Amino acid sequence: MTRRSGRHFLQIPGPTNVPDRVLRAIDMPTMDHRGPEFAELGHEVLDGLKHVFQTKQPVVIYPASGTGAWEAALVNTLSPGDKVLMFETGHFATLWQKMATKLGLAPEFVATDWRRGADPAIVEAKLKEDKRHAIKAVCVVHNETSTGVTSRIGAIRKGIDAAKHPALFLVDTISSLASIDYRHDEWGVDVTVAGSQKGLMLPPGLSFNALSEKARKASQGAKLPRSYWGWEEMLASNKTGYFPYTPATNLLYGLREALRMLREEGLENVFARHDRHAEATRRAVHAWGLEVLCAVPEEYSSSLTAVMTPAGHDADKLRKKILEAFDMSLGTGLGKLAGKVFRIGHLGDFNDLALLGTLAGVEMGLELAGVPHKKGGVQAAMEHLAARASGAKATRKAA
Ligand SMILES: Cc1ncc(COP(=O)(O)O)c(C=O)c1O
Repeated sequence: MTRRSGRHFLQIPGPTNVPDRVLRAIDMPTMDHRGPEFAELGHEVLDGLKHVFQTKQPVVIYPASGTGAWEAALVNTLSPGDKVLMFETGHFATLWQKMATKLGLAPEFVATDWRRGADPAIVEAKLKEDKRHAIKAVCVVHNETSTGVTSRIGAIRKGIDAAKHPALFLVDTISSLASIDYRHDEWGVDVTVAGSQKGLMLPPGLSFNALSEKARKASQGAKLPRSYWGWEEMLASNKTGYFPYTPATNLLYGLREALRMLREEGLENVFARHDRHAEATRRAVHAWGLEVLCAVPEEYSSSLTAVMTPAGHDADKLRKKILEAFDMSLGTGLGKLAGKVFRIGHLGDFNDLALLGTLAGVEMGLELAGVPHKKGGVQAAMEHLAARASGAKATRKAA
């Protein structure tokens, strides 16, 4: 069989499904990125992004994956040997810490069991201990995509303030931006790192740094070498709507459309939709008699759920079975979670019936793969969704 009918279910926690409106917007002839038309596009996306980050401050756009924006956040603000406080919340936090080490920084890496977020009380205690202000930055992954745990950024900010410590606050929102409530200005974040391929409903290829005044000031004295990632050249060009090097023009057409869609639905509604789908997913998992990896209910992720398979049952075999039988991709277990969890992505352009199709695929897969479970997960999710259907106002206007 060389063709499978119907749509592939891409239910990994990003890259996510790209809506037709965004695909149509990208499907345009290449434009002159130094011509007058481009400046209009540049201004619209640079301004529009501020709304999504909930900031009035500049947002830098890189033609790069999220890893590039991680590097940009570090090299623009820090100097060789600087101590940074990082939290081992999972695979992505570990990769960011490894990058910091490779760049010549000195991370203190606070361990966790990969089932909880960064602890605001530990942040406060570590900063209070640091009387000489050796720690130059606190780096936290808001939503750990490998575990489905969301750290409490507002509470961590309060911890930094309570310690009266001048460290910068750098936050990775790659799998939370435009899915889970996130407030760059209100939470006093100095650099927010984000990517195009998850809540923003775009293909991979763009990434972002939202800045603060304090971060820009720090960048003037920061000594780590930087060229491509330098903010100041970028911000100088962005003033006129242009970029210092060739931007990813067609992805920017897509970004303009995605930002319009998010405005039409309303950020509040976008967050409520993600919360509701996450809750329905957890009800399904509990009905199956399986365990959600996140151990702290107030840190449950609204963009993905990592589900533990019972001991002796390989999560990757289950995923393979589901892909073969039902043409659905689920997220694999990363790092030390390999084979132990599968991850259900429920973020981006998504609705109730797509979630139910996803959960039905999982429930059938559990049966086919011989993973011990109880029936009724899809039913539990349906009951939750139906009970709250009238409260879920669809506010997306016609195109
Ligand atoms: C939380 C988080 N941080 C960083 C990254 C790395 O981003 P990229 O793979 O786009 O370079 C990812 C990728 O999924 C992620 O989920």
